[in-house]
Amino acid sequence: MNALHLPNAEFRSLAARVTDLAADLLAGLDELRAFPAVRGEQVARAFEAPLPEEGLRAGALDALGEVLALSRAPTPRFYGYVLGSGEPVAALADLLASILNQNVTAWRSAPAAVTIERQVVRGLAGALGCEGFSGSLCGGGSMANLMGLAMAREARLPANESGAQPGVVYASSEVHMSILKAMAVLGLGRENLRLIGADEAYRLDPQALRTAIAADRSAGRTPLAVVATGGSVNTGAIDPLPQIAAVCREQQLWLHVDGAYGALAALAIPERFTGLSAADSLSLDPHKWLYQPLDCGMLLFRSAHAARTAFSCSGDYAKSLAEDPLESFAFFDESLELSRRFRALKLWLSLRYHGLAAFRSAIRSDLRHAQNLAELIRGTARLELLAPVELSAVCFRYRSGAPGAAADRLNAAILRRVIERGRVYLSNATLRGRFALRACFVNHRTTDRDVGQIVPEVLDAARECLNS
Ligand SMILES: Cc1ncc(COP(=O)(O)O)c(C=O)c1O
Repeated sequence: MNALHLPNAEFRSLAARVTDLAADLLAGLDELRAFPAVRGEQVARAFEAPLPEEGLRAGALDALGEVLALSRAPTPRFYGYVLGSGEPVAALADLLASILNQNVTAWRSAPAAVTIERQVVRGLAGALGCEGFSGSLCGGGSMANLMGLAMAREARLPANESGAQPGVVYASSEVHMSILKAMAVLGLGRENLRLIGADEAYRLDPQALRTAIAADRSAGRTPLAVVATGGSVNTGAIDPLPQIAAVCREQQLWLHVDGAYGALAALAIPERFTGLSAADSLSLDPHKWLYQPLDCGMLLFRSAHAARTAFSCSGDYAKSLAEDPLESFAFFDESLELSRRFRALKLWLSLRYHGLAAFRSAIRSDLRHAQNLAELIRGTARLELLAPVELSAVCFRYRSGAPGAAADRLNAAILRRVIERGRVYLSNATLRGRFALRACFVNHRTTDRDVGQIVPEVLDAARECLNS
């Protein structure tokens, strides 16, 4: 008997313990703090025991209670960053996907998984108005952005064989940091990312884009691609996609849309995402605004040929021997990754279980929560909104009357205090040099009552900071 053998009865009993823990966590979520009251040293001590030489068997699971207690629970009152709280049907699918342990490299390794992933990707593309696009799932928006720009580079300034050539990419000053990372690792260099000043609503200005492209061309540089953002990480600003697409067509530049935060909202408010289908490549993050448990990113592209030009490079050991077009399909020909998890199972099961209408409705609730919070802030003399609320991110701050740096320090202290109090979790943004408190709604558990707690919490935290 292999030393790792697990009798089936023991698997059932362990699985029941784990699902009980998960169900208890879900049942008690509303009572939990938005961030645990723990310090780094306490967490380090909790997990400092060396790895055992002899297995603890079922006793190993005893520590899971502590893992949950020291974790940030997926509560309804978490509004930090762009993070949902994980749809549980999808989580169950993740368990099954791990047991099934498919390697979703190619049909020949994972027939059902490859077929489901291709189907769910096409289905979502169609639901977003991007009929005919294909793509793949990946770890997140950062990976999708990297792959989108790798495709852009290979399509316009081929580099795979002889190395990167200089080329310029354009984006608004609100672009996500993953684009800067992609510029670096693709050998294009961050200095070749032109950050175009955003307008008063934090959107890329197409006229400034045109001017920057013309300036680069007349200086002998080679424009390569434009990254438009469909929901900026700070404020949820949606760049003017039709106008940017027109510039790209006219200048023959690749258009990559970073829709990791916002573009899935096109399921609920398609009219705000006109022009999305003009993208050559489009990043999405179902682990953000489709409520999926991490990780679940997606890259869509118009041309599978362009994806293969960028990524196809397989050793003979991986090549399919099949002639059939379905059976010879390999994701590794269209993606940076080779070994890949069966991420599609959670997305497919969760979408089938609830139906697209339920997701559209959940997204509408998030949009409403953001407008409601903005209204509450407008009605509170001590608070001010710092940006228009275009999607579900609300940037605001406490009006202290203090000059710039002191107001920033006070608001940073308020944020720390809000998190310590544990009732709601906010994060921060810097807008035109000013420190902002930021609440972002991509959480299907959040209710109107939860939203109503944000302003009183911030005011109480401010009072505590000012009195200390
Ligand atoms: C606009 C935007 N792009 C890209 C990303 C990166 O996505 P991920 O964290 O899934 O890598 C984010 C994350 O918040 C984002 O908001």
